[in-house]
Order: sequence, then structure tokens, then C-alpha cells
Amino acid sequence: MANAAAPAPGANMGEPAPRLDARLKVTGEARYASDFPVSNPAFAYLVTSTIAKGRITALDLAEARAVPGVLDILTHENTGDLKAVAFGSASTSTQQLGPEIDHDGQIVAVVLADTFEAARDAARKVRVTYAAATPSATFGAQGLTEDDATKVSERIKEAPAAGDVEVALAAADVVIDAEYATPAQHHNPIELFTTTCAWHDNRLTIYEPSQFVYGLKNSTAKKLGIDPGQVRVVSPFGGAFGAKGQLTPRTGLIALAAKRLNRPVKLVASRDQGFTIATYRAETRHHIRLGAKADGKLVGYSHEGWEISSRRDPYCVAGVEDSARLYAFGAVRTKVNIVHADRNTPGFMRSPPVVPYIYALETAMDELAAKLRMDPVEFRRVNDTMTDPVSGKPYSSRSLMQCYDEAGGAFGWKRRDPRPGAMRDGDWLIGWGCATAVYPTHVATATARVRLMPDGKVRVQSAAHELGTGAYTVIGQMAAQELGTPLSATTVELGDSDLPPAMVAGGSNTTASTCSAVMKACAAIREKLARAATTANDGPLAGRDPSQVVLKDVALTAPDGATEKLEDTFRRLGVSAIEEYAEFAPEGVKPDAVKSLYAGKGAMTGGPKGRKLMYAMGAEFVEVRINAATREIRVPRMVGAFAAGRLMNTRTARSQLMGGMIWGISSALHEATEIDKRNARYVNDNLADYMVPVNADIEEVQVILVPEEDHDVNPAGIKGLGELANVGTAAAVSNAVYHATGMRIRKLPIRIEDILPT
Ligand code: MOS
Repeated sequence: MANAAAPAPGANMGEPAPRLDARLKVTGEARYASDFPVSNPAFAYLVTSTIAKGRITALDLAEARAVPGVLDILTHENTGDLKAVAFGSASTSTQQLGPEIDHDGQIVAVVLADTFEAARDAARKVRVTYAAATPSATFGAQGLTEDDATKVSERIKEAPAAGDVEVALAAADVVIDAEYATPAQHHNPIELFTTTCAWHDNRLTIYEPSQFVYGLKNSTAKKLGIDPGQVRVVSPFGGAFGAKGQLTPRTGLIALAAKRLNRPVKLVASRDQGFTIATYRAETRHHIRLGAKADGKLVGYSHEGWEISSRRDPYCVAGVEDSARLYAFGAVRTKVNIVHADRNTPGFMRSPPVVPYIYALETAMDELAAKLRMDPVEFRRVNDTMTDPVSGKPYSSRSLMQCYDEAGGAFGWKRRDPRPGAMRDGDWLIGWGCATAVYPTHVATATARVRLMPDGKVRVQSAAHELGTGAYTVIGQMAAQELGTPLSATTVELGDSDLPPAMVAGGSNTTASTCSAVMKACAAIREKLARAATTANDGPLAGRDPSQVVLKDVALTAPDGATEKLEDTFRRLGVSAIEEYAEFAPEGVKPDAVKSLYAGKGAMTGGPKGRKLMYAMGAEFVEVRINAATREIRVPRMVGAFAAGRLMNTRTARSQLMGGMIWGISSALHEATEIDKRNARYVNDNLADYMVPVNADIEEVQVILVPEEDHDVNPAGIKGLGELANVGTAAAVSNAVYHATGMRIRKLPIRIEDILPT
């Protein structure tokens, strides 16, 4: 990029621009996958298993087939043409329709009919006979099996370790030895899990909310045994938070159904089915030992985690990869165990690795600070580090203590009386707690195509994804800034596998990765224009240094003020538009990474993986008020300060961070998927019983953006922040509950019954 003309300085970056898609969203015009009209669709309704373990012994379809309008019913007896495809990085297959049943709510039949109502009616008349076995639901059940994650999972090849923890803890003055538990959670996106499939001349179009349209395209092709070139996935909008990142069983089934009927097929699964046909955050257990010297210096950290997965798939989040780097621990020992139960396979859910593991660590940190009689902020300051205690690698940037100082200052932390129960206001016990938020900065392969018109109109195309985070807007801002055009003249197209590929919208990599590809494409456009204008024999810029020419306001301008209108440069080039395609691959990935992105894989780096550690960080402070008599828990205020490199848009950044903290309150006090242990079945599989905070539960939430420069993470200096702020909140709330009551609750969520006076 050395020869490219310069972007105009200062334009657009960080501006709190309103969302490009705001009007579409508020008017209901934004088209979600199941909104796309297809001609004469048939409707699908799923039949799901009522047992968690066993076998289908008989299927009686007669009554269902007799429902007027029923077209066909897919079962395990007539869908043998579907191939087994790996779930995520696992080596085993996603489930077919049986006859083996390995979790409650497994799809066992798909009823197809002329209307949704007929399909639903018939689905209820499908008679399935099972030979049922006793399932193992979760921790504590008989019949669970356990694997060392490093032996079976791609996510953790080697458990982070340094020094001898036993020796270190034996020499510590103070040690915490405690166990923590987190529950299962389900995403419950407002947009249900839907799939619409339409075939035209052997080409399949899939409308499905997806966080990875190229991944879905390629994995569905594999499932159907067809060429990926025959498949297109369309998903311009979608709320997701992790559950829409990979192929689940329904997609291949609906594609097959549409092929057989020779007619488009539309499935909108019900809310309760979403609990079992998609993924979720699995429950975890943790055993932490943490030791320090009397002066507060940590000497050893041992963290063993257990995570529930399905029988077939070795899914885990393995958050020790991140927690082990967070402080100057001294010696480190970690281990992750995958515990196989008769459950559907879990998967990503906002900030998957760090949410449970950092909750456990940050609660243990507070316990140790209390035991040391040290202020919890000071305790973290004493153990702050610019190098990884495991590998010795430096952090590319780390602003953790600036975040503590800013958030603590705004919160008024100095006025805290450290004695538990000391800050009382009438009937209300007041507790103040804090914790660290941390999220690995991921950067992935990405491509983009940018077109500039002589009137300054810009079109950006990339198969990146808008999950509601503001991707359209920040990607448009990057193009506008790099081409010196207003955002209002920019069109952004995302979420379609006919566009140049981008990585899965996971790990908060989209802004950093796709914006880096857009930057490259824009630089190529500027270079082409500057060369044309300066190498011409005539014209106002003839003979100028092209690298000094700035593109702004539909004109090229040299440092001496000489300027040429863009339409003249375009005329000089003899074109009516300039279009450039660019590929971006982060440092350290394999040379064929972009090629593999086209095949639905790609590469992602960051966190602990590169030459330097790359992390975004934050500090969160929470006040809880607990009624001394009823034990009702309120959160009247919360302050978070976050440092995540360069911010593309302070408005969307603030929204993400605020939303994250609100989700953190949900994790701390409301949210859990309840499991019927006898039947391995989810109990609260609806929005009435699945508890999340409502407006009345959320009072003051203050977000502070801490400036941070980082030139190592990527060309734009961006660290993702979509998954930063819900990390640490639960621990901060839990620590505040301890401060209010003196009761240390080591599981989530914390409910009234956990803090009854003893
Ligand atoms: Mo996000 S849970 O990494 O899709």
C-alpha cells in the first residue's frame, strides 16, 4: 500500500453515525431470512423426539398422511441419501432422523404440507414408538463419560501451564480453594430458527439466518453430496449470538424436501424446538486454587473445568486459554474436561470461552482479595502484567488498569467500606463489586469488493454478516473514510454467499477483518485514480507524486492545492466506475487461507495465538441492593470502562457494550435453562419461563470508552468488542452480593433462595 494515495485524514472514523439499516429496522422493512418471498411454498413442521436416549421401533404415519394438504413426510426410513457431516470442528456427525435417539427433542420426522396449519396438525398425528433407555442429563448423573479436552478437541491442543503449581501454592501465604458452577443457557433470538429452500435448475438457494453464509453453503453441499457452486445462502440480517454459526440438521432436510417436492419449502421451527435443534451454552463446573503472598502478589493459579457436551461431539469452550494469561499468576496449571451426556450438542454463545471461565476466576480473585484484606482493584493492579505468564509473550496493548481507574472513578469506588454488610440504607443492604472483562482480539481472513462512481457513490460488497451489531454501518464508514466520501453515498451489501467471502461472524472478528479488506480495496482504487491523474500529459495533477495525492469530496488534490474532479479522472481512464476486489489475511495464517475461506473454512488468529497477545479489556463496577427482609436483589447502577483499540463508531460500540453488561446481569441474576434430570429434557423452553431481565430490572448503565492505540492487531488498529462487556459482569454482581451480605455464592444465577439469612 506504500504507493497508494492517502486517505483524507480524520474523516468518519469513530463518528457516532446512526446505523445505515436503522430505517429498515424500525419500519419492519429489513428482510430476515424467512421474510423472503418464494413462489408457491410448501410448509414444513418438525416432529421431535420425546425421549432423550433409545431407539425408534415403529413409525405410524397413516393418520398424519390423512390430513388434507399433507404432501410428504420425511423420516429415517426415506432420507438415507443425506451424508454425515461433521459438527463444527468435530469428527463425528450431526444426527440424522434416527432410528437412534441421542437427545431429547431430536428431529425424527419432517411433515410437508400445502399450509403451515396442515403441516402442524399432521406433525401432531405422527405416531412414534420408542424403546427408551435411561438418559444421563447433566453433572451428577450416572453414566456420564469424560474426556481430557486436549485429546479430543481442536479448540485446545495443549492446556496452558507454567512452573510447578503445587510447590507455588505450598509456599503461598493465602490460598483460595473453591468450586464454581454455571448453568446452561439458550439464545432465544427473536427471529426463530428458520430455513427456506428453493431449487432452480439444480441450483439451491437457502434463506436461513446465518453467521457464516460460506460455511453454510459448503457444509450443506457436503450434506447433500452436491457441488458447492450449486448452493447460494442468503441472510442479510439475523440475530444470533452464536447459535447460527454452523450447520445443524434441519438445513439438509429442508433442502432435500424441496428437491423431492420440486417446490420451495419453508420451515419456521417453534420456540421450544429451538432449544433442541440448535446449539446452546452448556453448563460448566470449575475447581480453582489461587494463591498469593501476604503482599498480594499471586504465586499460583490452578483451574480445572468440566463442560457438558453431547455423546457424539467433543464440543468445549476451554476458556483457560484466555484466563491463564490474565494476570501475573506465577505458576499455572489448567485442565479442561468434556463431560458427555445424553444432550444435544452445545455451541457458541456470546463470548463462549470467557463467560464461564472468567466468572469463576474473577470470583476467586475477589475471594482472595478479601482474604488478603486488600482492595480488589489494588489486588488486580499488583498483579497486572504486560506479558503472558504462560508463554512470556508481550501483550500488543493492554489498558486494564486505565479501565479500572476510569470506571472506579466514575463509580465512586473510593467511598466503599470494605466490610461486608457495612453499607446499609434502611431496609436495603448495599454491595459494591467489580471484575475484569476480557476478550481475545480475533482477526480473520476476509475479502471485499468496492466500487466507486465518478459522482462519489460507493458500493461495498462482502459476505460478512449483520447480527444486529452495526456491521453494515462500520463497514460503510471504513469505505467512506478511505474514499473521502460521505457515508450517505455508501451502499453496503452483506450476507449473501454470491458476494466475496468473509469469515464466520464469531469471535467478534468482523469489524477488524472485513474493514481491513475494505481498506485494501479502497487503497487500490485511490492508487489507480492517483496514477491516472498524475501520469497524464495534461491536467492539473500532471507530474505530481501520486502518493501525496488525497482523494476527498469527489476530487483528487495535491499538497500544493492543485485539484482534479473525479469525473475528469474517470474520463481520463475511460471508465464509468472503478471496482477493486481485495483479500485480507492476518499475519501468521497459512498462505492458502483465503482459498480455504471460499471453501467455507478460512482462518482466524488472535488472542494468545500470535507473536503478541491480543486482547480487549474492561473493568466493570456494580452496585446491588438487597432487601434485608425479602432478599430481593436489585442492580441500581453499573459502570463499565472498556479499551478495544480503535473504535469505528462510538454509537454502535456503546450499544454493544451496554447490551453486553445487561446480558451480564441476566447471567448473574436471571438466566438458566432448567433441566429435568430424569428425562434429560429442558423445562423452561419458552419465553415465559426462560428468565431474562426486563426494563424494570435495568436501571443506570454507564459505558466509558477508554482510548487505546494498537498498531499490532491489524492495519486499522481495531479490536472487536461485541463479546467483551458481558464477560465479568456476573462476577462483579456476585462480588457485590458478597459485599452486601457476606455470603459467597459460587454458582449462577444467584437467586433469592440462595441468599436467605442463615
Ligand atoms: Mo460469537 S458466540 O463467537 O458467535
